[in-house]
Amino acid sequence: MQRRQFLQAGALFGMVSTGIFSALPVSAADESFVQPPLPYALDGLKPFLSEEQMNFHYNKHHAGYYTNLKKLVDGKPEAKWSLEDIIIKSEPGPVFNNAAQALNHAFFWNCLAPVGKEGKIAEKLSAAIDRDFGGIAQFKEQFVAKATALFGSGWCWLAANKDGKLDILPLSNAGNPLKQDKKPLLVVDVWEHAYYIDYRNERGKFLKLFVERINWDFVSGNY
Ligand SMILES: [Fe+2]
Repeated sequence: MQRRQFLQAGALFGMVSTGIFSALPVSAADESFVQPPLPYALDGLKPFLSEEQMNFHYNKHHAGYYTNLKKLVDGKPEAKWSLEDIIIKSEPGPVFNNAAQALNHAFFWNCLAPVGKEGKIAEKLSAAIDRDFGGIAQFKEQFVAKATALFGSGWCWLAANKDGKLDILPLSNAGNPLKQDKKPLLVVDVWEHAYYIDYRNERGKFLKLFVERINWDFVSGNY
């Protein structure tokens, strides 16, 4: 398997089978922090997201976090850590911010599916959504409402507690549920750079379409 294919498989399946982020190729121990390839083409999410929107988001913003992180940890112990470890162990600051932004985006890309590739919600997750939100329609409504209301930049997560209870967590800036000892299942990026080219200031419009573009196979596998 070519390295590129391996990275893609790791991004898609490693998080599911061996812990959320453990198989992402993210440690500098072997070579360097590496941005995983997108699991689809830059224009693969049209008409939800344009190629221009995806190109700026993936090739400029996401790539930039890896570049910054490499500079920040050069010669420091964190250079040998995984992104997951940096997120869990770091104090607030530039290293945490860039590591979390790198990993949050890699997770986000996998939460999205091209038209026809949405998969389906596994029975176990479906039952938990019914129990904790009252149904999938209610979940989508609550998720969109909380993500829309998140003030400023951040990420809106669906996460599970140790006992499997689901929560919607709107987290500012580079927030990640791992910091709260919760398991990330699904995320949407609500930084303006995630939608501004295609949706300008209309975050709510972006989010209402986002919940119809979720890769449920990926999200179910995380639960
Ligand atoms: Fe982003």
